Amino acid sequence: MLIFAVETSCDETSICIINKDKKILSHITNSQREHIKFGGVVPELASRSHLQILQKISKDALIEANIDIKEIDVFCATCGPGLIGGLLVGSTFAKSLALGLNKPFVPINHLEGHLLSPTFNNSIQYPYVVFLLTGGHTQIYLINSINDYELLGETLDDAIGEAFDKVAKLLKLPYPGGPEIEKKAKNGDSEKFKLPHPLQKKINLNFSFSGIKTAVNLIVKNNNNINDVFKANLAASFQRTVTQIIEKKLELTIKHLKKRGIIISQISLVGGVAANKYIYNRIDKVSKKYKCLLIMPPQYMLSDNAAMIGWACINKYSKKQISDLHFKANPRLTINDTLL
Ligand code: KG4
Ligand code: ZN
Repeated sequence: MLIFAVETSCDETSICIINKDKKILSHITNSQREHIKFGGVVPELASRSHLQILQKISKDALIEANIDIKEIDVFCATCGPGLIGGLLVGSTFAKSLALGLNKPFVPINHLEGHLLSPTFNNSIQYPYVVFLLTGGHTQIYLINSINDYELLGETLDDAIGEAFDKVAKLLKLPYPGGPEIEKKAKNGDSEKFKLPHPLQKKINLNFSFSGIKTAVNLIVKNNNNINDVFKANLAASFQRTVTQIIEKKLELTIKHLKKRGIIISQISLVGGVAANKYIYNRIDKVSKKYKCLLIMPPQYMLSDNAAMIGWACINKYSKKQISDLHFKANPRLTINDTLL
């Protein structure tokens, strides 16, 4: 069975052709560069860019996989959550192909794509815990099995990736800011600036990042020498603070689950921010302390990509072969909104 997967929920246009035995025949992702000069994703530009490039990268993906489009058995696309323009472009494109070729179309929840990404390359012991760390989401999930997900906590304001991007913008670093902050932080003193720990006293699993961003803004405004050393120190202090918050939430998650009689042995970090090595190393240490294994998806499944969408499609629908050409893209889709 051959699956043609489309991902267009934010600023990555991605196509993957994958078979049900997990063989990736081709995987092409175009990260849009139109947004760099704005320091953040401009939705209208994102939709236009998806529209412009989808056909070309689809053709390239078919050539790379050395197959004819008629050989595809199932078409799938991200139908939410995300930016509505991009979701409409990608899902309509995949639906049209399915309709024209008389093949099934499977709508995929983007969050589920991220949550199932560590199951691609790890042998899983259910239940496992996932920290979903992206530009749009910061959530903690308990994954009991495929189709059984419990949201344990989430951000009350900014997403963690958004905080990285906004702090980078304040430090006049390019977009996307996450990798730039990580690079700068390597040469910085992470104890130079004391930043707030929002919700520190709350024994719950929610996050808040907007106060840290405001604190960084004040520090920048009160400093008239924004040189490389200053940037490195502030980047390092910010990175350390958000990592401490994730560490704390991980410990609270393990304790909370233990109280409910749930012992987990695997923890995963997924989403673009999970590419951060400093966060990975620190979370790895905490995981070990609680005798848990930190499992990661393949590197190419961290940032938005169509391979995780194709993999979610294989997991959920390959046996049932259910098609839903009428599913409406939903920018606010949650994990428990049933798609089929
Ligand atoms: O998962 P993703 O590609 O897209 C969303 O679904 O949002 O995540 C993008 C986010 C951006 O905010 C980007 O700055 C952040 O992931 N990011 C990082 C790193 N690489 C990407 N944040 C921190 N450290 C990194 N190395
Ligand atoms: Zn994502």
